[in-house]
Amino acid sequence: MSTDSSDSKLLQSSAVINEAVQTLREGGLVAFPTETVYGLGADAKNSKAIEKVFTTKGRPSNHPLIVHLAAPDKFDQAQVDWVPILAPWVRDLSEDALALINAFWPGPLTLVFKKDKNVLNELTGGQDTVAIRAPAHPMAQELLRKFKGGVVAPSANRFGKVSPTSAADVRHEFGGALDLMILDGGDCEVGIESTIIDLSSGDKAVLLRPGIITPGEVMAKTGIKVFQRGENQMASDDESLPKVSGSLRAHYAPTTPLRLYAPGRVLDALSEFPDIKSRVAVAVWDSESSLGEDGHPSVHFEEVEVPSDSATFATLLYRSLRDLDQQGWDLILFPEPPAGEEWDGVRDRLQRACFGSGPSSSSHVNS
Ligand code: TXA
Ligand code: MG
Repeated sequence: MSTDSSDSKLLQSSAVINEAVQTLREGGLVAFPTETVYGLGADAKNSKAIEKVFTTKGRPSNHPLIVHLAAPDKFDQAQVDWVPILAPWVRDLSEDALALINAFWPGPLTLVFKKDKNVLNELTGGQDTVAIRAPAHPMAQELLRKFKGGVVAPSANRFGKVSPTSAADVRHEFGGALDLMILDGGDCEVGIESTIIDLSSGDKAVLLRPGIITPGEVMAKTGIKVFQRGENQMASDDESLPKVSGSLRAHYAPTTPLRLYAPGRVLDALSEFPDIKSRVAVAVWDSESSLGEDGHPSVHFEEVEVPSDSATFATLLYRSLRDLDQQGWDLILFPEPPAGEEWDGVRDRLQRACFGSGPSSSSHVNS
């Protein structure tokens, strides 16, 4: 039988995945694509490998990791049985949890559960909960299925920096520093990290990190109400634990200063930078006409169009931040995202990126 070029590509990629599986089994790190962002993967049952993830990222050890699991093969069943897959990781699996899982997995949704006693404390940052997701990207699925175990994977960037949405981004982030195996699965479709919902309190679903799956969509598909953090929270809840590392004010940050501007107020955004003399990149909605000529006497503005559709904006957000960051601007301005929960994910990332942006010597950067 002859193999045409697409067959040989498949063979080639499955050989690469076998090598990645071997690397994971030997306690090594493998960067791999997911539909959200690229992850820096390690065997979730190997403490030494987990430690490598933290040191490679420069991430504090009390910031917990997400365990990635393979979705079962769906072909022979209408309803996939997740219970045995989750049993080694999760203590109680509620009806609501199963409803969320059946509606959204594999996909960009992470769920936080009370952990099984065998889940390593190193990966949960010492907490008694564990975050789990089944990514939808076919290459991630193949890796996980062949590995036959859980893979911890934070976003494959240095702590506090912009998450990678292509294999080249990962190489740029860690290249030179170490000999990291990187699986190339193309550009990430979603572009921002998974939505995280905490189910560990048993009775209430709480949104820890907004993403492309919104509380409105969860309600529409499952009838489950997702509470915002702080909403209806018990006074005894421990807010001091860094449950979500992205919840630091500074995160996802470029090295070039980044600010948001209100509609029509580009010049106001400059007031914070009275001495700025030169080049400012201004992102403008593709649906709107350009800024026109009424600039600033000593500043050279250059416009970059950004999509006015929230999902497309999310897909391109980190790509744009990385590209602009490498172009040597003195300042990057983005339009404030409009109100509405479909924008919550990108608004959250943009605000933290602004707060953490600028050279790392600047005073407010804490990560
Ligand atoms: O889309 C994603 O979720 C990507 C891809 C690679 O899967 N991963 C990702 O991982 O964003 P990371 O480590 O960059 O962010 C994971 C977030 C962190 O903010 C962490 O604090 C939170 O998940 N997290 C992990 N375990 C948790 C737990 N037990 N309770 C609360 N939050 C947890
Ligand atoms: Mg991250």
